[in-house]
Formats: sequence, C-alpha cells, structure tokens
Amino acid sequence: MTAAAGDIEKAAGVLRAGGLVAFPTETVYGLGADASDPAAVSRIYQAKGRPSTHPLIVHLAGAEHLDGWVEKLPGPARLLAQHFWPGPLTLVLRRGPRVSSATTGGLETVGVRVPDHPVALALLSAFGGGAAAPSANRFGSVSPTTAGHVRAELGDAVDFVLDGGPCQVGVESTIVDATSDTLSVLRPGGVPREDLEAVLGSSLEVPSVSPIRVPGQHPSHYAPRARVVLVEPGRVAAEAERARKLGHQVGVFLPPSLDGAVPEARAVVAVPASPAEYARGLYGFLRELDRAGCDLIVASLPEEKGLGLAIANRLRRAAGPRG
Ligand code: TXA
Ligand code: MG
Repeated sequence: MTAAAGDIEKAAGVLRAGGLVAFPTETVYGLGADASDPAAVSRIYQAKGRPSTHPLIVHLAGAEHLDGWVEKLPGPARLLAQHFWPGPLTLVLRRGPRVSSATTGGLETVGVRVPDHPVALALLSAFGGGAAAPSANRFGSVSPTTAGHVRAELGDAVDFVLDGGPCQVGVESTIVDATSDTLSVLRPGGVPREDLEAVLGSSLEVPSVSPIRVPGQHPSHYAPRARVVLVEPGRVAAEAERARKLGHQVGVFLPPSLDGAVPEARAVVAVPASPAEYARGLYGFLRELDRAGCDLIVASLPEEKGLGLAIANRLRRAAGPRG
C-alpha cells in the first residue's frame, strides 16, 4: 500500500515547518521531526512523554545522504550499510554537525538508518533532510505497527499521519554500535545477528536483558497494560489455569508446540511457528489481549536465534518490573 503523492508532499511540508509526521517503516511506525531542528525534536519528546536524554534515530533516504549527519563511515559500518540498507539496521556512529543535540540526547554519537519502506523513502526524499523518529507510541508502551495504532495512542499530538498499511517486519531495527573497532549489538531487531556476523566474518557481542532492576535503566518497555508472565512452553497451560483460579483475566500466547491444548482463558493468541510471522504480529497480539480486557498475559520465549532473539528481548522487557 502506498500513500498518495499529495500526502507525501503535505507531510514533507509539515516536517519543513517544524511539525510532527507519523510515517510507516518496515519495522514499526515512526514519529518524525526535522532532526536538525531542536524545537521540532522537542515536540517529539513531549508527544511521547519520553525523557529528553533518550537519543533518537535519524532516518535518511539513502547512504549517499550521510554527509553532515555522521563524522565518518568506518569500514565495517560501510560494509553493513551496503548489505542491509535500506533495511532494519541502525548504525550508531560519531555525530556530524547537521544533527541537533536535541536528537542525540546530548551524546557525541548518532543512530542513523535508511528504512525499507516506499512511503518512508518517498517522504525522506521529498523532505530532503533527516527525520529524527522514535517509534510512534507513548513512552514505555507497545510500538505501533498500523496507522490506526498511532492515531489511537497519539491522536492530536501528531500533525499528520501517513498510512502505509501494516508494517512487514514488526519489531524495531537492530542497533549496532559502530563507534569503535569492536562492533556490538545494542538492541536485537529486524536484522538477525547471524546475518550481520556472516557479512562481517566475526562474532558480535549481544548484551542480555537483566531481570534485576537497575537504577536509570527501564527494563519495562514495549509493555502492554496487562502484566506479562514468562514460563517454559510446557508450563503455559498450567500457569494460565493457576492465574485464572486466582481471579485474573488471563490472556495466553499459546506456543506452536501446544497447538490443540487451548487453556480456558479470557483470550488466546496462537503464536505463529514462523519467527518472521511472529515478529510481524507480536505488538498487535499484545494490543489485542489488552483490548480483550486481560490483566495478565502468560507467554513463553521462542528459541533465541534469528528473529527469535528480538522477539525474546521484547517479551523480556514487556515482562520487566514496572515504573
Ligand atoms: O525500527 C526502529 O528503529 C524504529 C523505527 C521508527 O525506525 N525506531 C525506534 O526508535 O525504535 P526508538 O526511539 O523507539 O528506539 C531507538 C533506540 C533507543 O533505545 C535509543 O536509546 C537508541 O535507539 N539510540 C539512538 N541513538 C543512539 C546513540 N547515539 N547511542 C546509543 N543508542 C542510541
Ligand atoms: Mg520505541
């Protein structure tokens, strides 16, 4: 699905005038503003209710537009950009003079990516600059994968919403820190770590999400309203039953291995066996169980390889301590 040419021009005009445009990418919908305009960027933080020390990703129409946004593109980062852009990969690099420090949260580095979505690319080309864009949801909640999710959550806080249909990847970009010679994955996402390693010919560090609360970090993120409880796949049905007997309105992520054994619950989502389909549906499933009135969601983690690593990361964060 593509937005009308008139809509693209209108949206580019809103960005030029310092306004906010929600736009589709292959991962999730972004809430965009001119990345070189501090006043425009501060409106993003306001609309999201997000602390202004959290850096934003700059979206560009192509790697040929990197001039001024980053200081340089070191060899390994260039290799990854060539292979994975446009695509769900964000590179953290030393910042250039064009990017406002409001966008980088005051850091000397900047995250950049070229999204693989025709509507996003048309918008960025028409705009001509870089769009700072976090996911278009309120801070800490589930990322939007349709234009309807954006409207429901942000409403009038956005000047214009470009509708490009449902997002095809469904989880956010993989973020790679490429500021030093030793590359590391800061957030698993739409490009599997194995694919990055195959191109680099070396292995990458992936930090794990600690279940313990660390001051200054936000373990609960990508979270639905309902509390999320993670158990082994074989214990999903028993845990759902236990919670139901305690009086909870239970939502269940039914693992593919339990197909057929549907527990009694307020709402049940059958988890797709294909990791790509699971990633595409993940945030919609969480929203669906919230809408059904569930106050507790029982789920298990997929195998943590390929896209399963990003899915497990988001489920762990959704299950993290609140507040
Ligand atoms: O797929 C995506 O990446 C989506 C779409 C809209 O492009 N965007 C997205 O943005 O997920 P957001 O703001 O929800 O998450 C961006 C993450 C944050 O966790 C932030 O800390 C990290 O990127 N980040 C951005 N710039 C960084 C930097 N200079 N150094 C370290 N982390 C950075
Ligand atoms: Mg986000």
